[in-house]
Amino acid sequence: MPIDMELEAVLRPEQLPMAPYPPKVITLANGRRMVVRQAKREDVPAILHSVRPCLSIERDYYDIVSARLYGELLAWYRYRVKSEFCLLGQVDGYLVGIVNSRMVDEKVGMSYHTLAIDRGLRIGSHLFAAKMEHHIEYLGQEEVLIVAESPIGFRRWMIEYPLEKTNIPHELGGGDSYRLTRQIYYAAKPRLVVGDRPVPPDLLAEAEAEIKFADDDTIRERISGLKGR
Ligand SMILES: CC(C)(COP(=O)(O)OP(=O)(O)OC[C@H]1O[C@@H](n2cnc3c(N)ncnc32)[C@H](O)[C@@H]1OP(=O)(O)O)[C@@H](O)C(=O)NCCC(=O)NCCS
Repeated sequence: MPIDMELEAVLRPEQLPMAPYPPKVITLANGRRMVVRQAKREDVPAILHSVRPCLSIERDYYDIVSARLYGELLAWYRYRVKSEFCLLGQVDGYLVGIVNSRMVDEKVGMSYHTLAIDRGLRIGSHLFAAKMEHHIEYLGQEEVLIVAESPIGFRRWMIEYPLEKTNIPHELGGGDSYRLTRQIYYAAKPRLVVGDRPVPPDLLAEAEAEIKFADDDTIRERISGLKGR
């Protein structure tokens, strides 16, 4: 499909300058090492591959969260969203979790979604913490606006941090936003933000070489299967 670049210049929103997220490695409760790194725009089709099987899982609101995440990542891939970023969690190259977010302006971040594809290891919790780390420490923002779409999300973010309730509408259109301020972030950091830098070169190279994905049935079983697998 030919692209009219003159029209594209109008349709593509302006992007704010964004510092890169330095990759880190987290040792999970099962001893496996998860590389957390920033996705590149070209990674989006491979990421969507792992999101697709979640679209039909009603349990724990995986369907709505993955459908929204799918659209947001596509919007980034097709240059239709302002200043979005996406961080990935990979174990042995396999994608195990995704978080995305965007900058509203230099000071305010708008948290989008967190999706844990493997469960029972706090992968979602670690990736959400990495997302907040990026907003506050590397993008240098003052606050992040957050909503929860699931009871687990509410427990993980609003209660565990804990976040501050506001009357500010959130871009996702649900309940009003909760807010992570710099102060809340730094108070929660010793408990919730973990990982080591730099990532050993072989581990980072493996993660960057290929985003591997489990087959659909394995992903569905990991999400809906028995706890403590
Ligand atoms: C919310 C989310 C990111 C949290 O990820 P996480 O920190 O890795 O946590 P898990 O999903 O593995 O576990 C959450 C709880 O369910 C339990 N659990 C884990 N695996 C499970 C499984 N296969 N089936 C049922 N329960 C399971 C865990 O033991 C945990 O209990 P705890 O809170 O007492 O520790 C993740 O649940 C998810 O992706 N949910 C769907 C999308 C979503 O709601 N996103 C957030 C929007 S606000």
